[in-house]
Amino acid sequence: MKINNVVAIVTGGASGLGEASVRAIVENGGRAMVLDRNIEAGNLLADELGSGVIFFEADVTNEASTQAAIDKCVSYFGYVNVVINCAGIAVVEKTVGKEGAHSLATFEKAININILGSFNVSRLTAVAMQKNDMFDESERGIIINTASVAAFDGQKGQAAYAASKGGIASLTLPMARDLAQMGVRVMAIAPGLFMTPMLAGLPPKTLETLSTQPLFPNRLGGPEEFADLAMFIIKAGYLNAEVIRLDGGIRLP
Ligand SMILES: NC(=O)c1ccc[n+]([C@@H]2O[C@H](COP(=O)([O-])OP(=O)(O)OC[C@H]3O[C@@H](n4cnc5c(N)ncnc54)[C@H](O)[C@@H]3O)[C@@H](O)[C@H]2O)c1
Repeated sequence: MKINNVVAIVTGGASGLGEASVRAIVENGGRAMVLDRNIEAGNLLADELGSGVIFFEADVTNEASTQAAIDKCVSYFGYVNVVINCAGIAVVEKTVGKEGAHSLATFEKAININILGSFNVSRLTAVAMQKNDMFDESERGIIINTASVAAFDGQKGQAAYAASKGGIASLTLPMARDLAQMGVRVMAIAPGLFMTPMLAGLPPKTLETLSTQPLFPNRLGGPEEFADLAMFIIKAGYLNAEVIRLDGGIRLP
C-alpha cells in the first residue's frame, strides 16, 4: 500500500517506536491517530504534526475506549487501513526472587497490555477494515504488531515480558490466516534494543553494557529505524504472516 493512502491507528503513538512511526507516516503523506493513555505527550505530538494527526486517549486493554477511538478515526479521516501496535510495557521480575515468587499481578499486567491489548485493537480495527474499498492488489488493511527479541531469547527476569512477546509472535500466523479473505495482512516486528523512554529507564551501567551487544552496527537502534521497517512492511504487499527481527544481529545471552 502506498503510504499516502494510509490512515493508521498507532497505539503507544505518543512515545518511542510508536511516535517515530506516526512521524514517518505523516512525512510520507499519510494520516494517523495517536492512540495512547499519555494525554500530555499525545496532544503535544498531534499539535506539532498538524491536521494529519489526531490524538485519542484510550487504554488498549479497554474494549469501549478502543472502539470509541476506532469510531473517531473513521469519522474524522473516513476510514482506517493500518494498525501499528506499539503500546506496551516492560516488566522485570525473577520467577523466584528475594521477595519470593513472581507476582501474578505483574505477570498478568504484562500479558494484558502487551498481548490482549494488541489483539483487542487489531480485532476491532479489522472489523472497520472490512468495510474499506480495496487499495493496491485487493488490499484492505495491514496490521503490524510489536514483539521483541525477548520472544526468542528472553533473559533472566523476563519470564512475563518474554511470554507476552512470544504471544505476539505466535498470533501473527493465525491472525493472517483469519484475515486473509478480507485482504488484510498481519506482520510483527521483533525489535532488539532501541533508544526510547522505555529503555532510558534502565540504570546507565546496564544501558552501556546492552548497547555493546548488537553485532553490527554495534549500537542501540534508533526509533526511526523501526519506523523505516514499518513503512517498508506497509509498502511491500507480498509480506505477510511473518515476524521480522530488527536487532543489528543481537542474540541476548
Ligand atoms: N525500546 C526497545 O528497546 C524495545 C525492544 C523490543 C520491543 N519493544 C516494544 O516496543 C513497543 C514500544 O516500546 P517503546 O520503547 O516505544 O516504549 P515507550 O515506553 O517509549 O512507549 C510506549 C507507549 O505505550 C503507551 N502505553 C502503555 N500502556 C498503554 C495502554 N494500556 N494503553 C495505551 N497506551 C499505552 C505509553 O503511554 C507510551 O506512550 C513496546 O511494546 C515494547 O515492548 C521495545
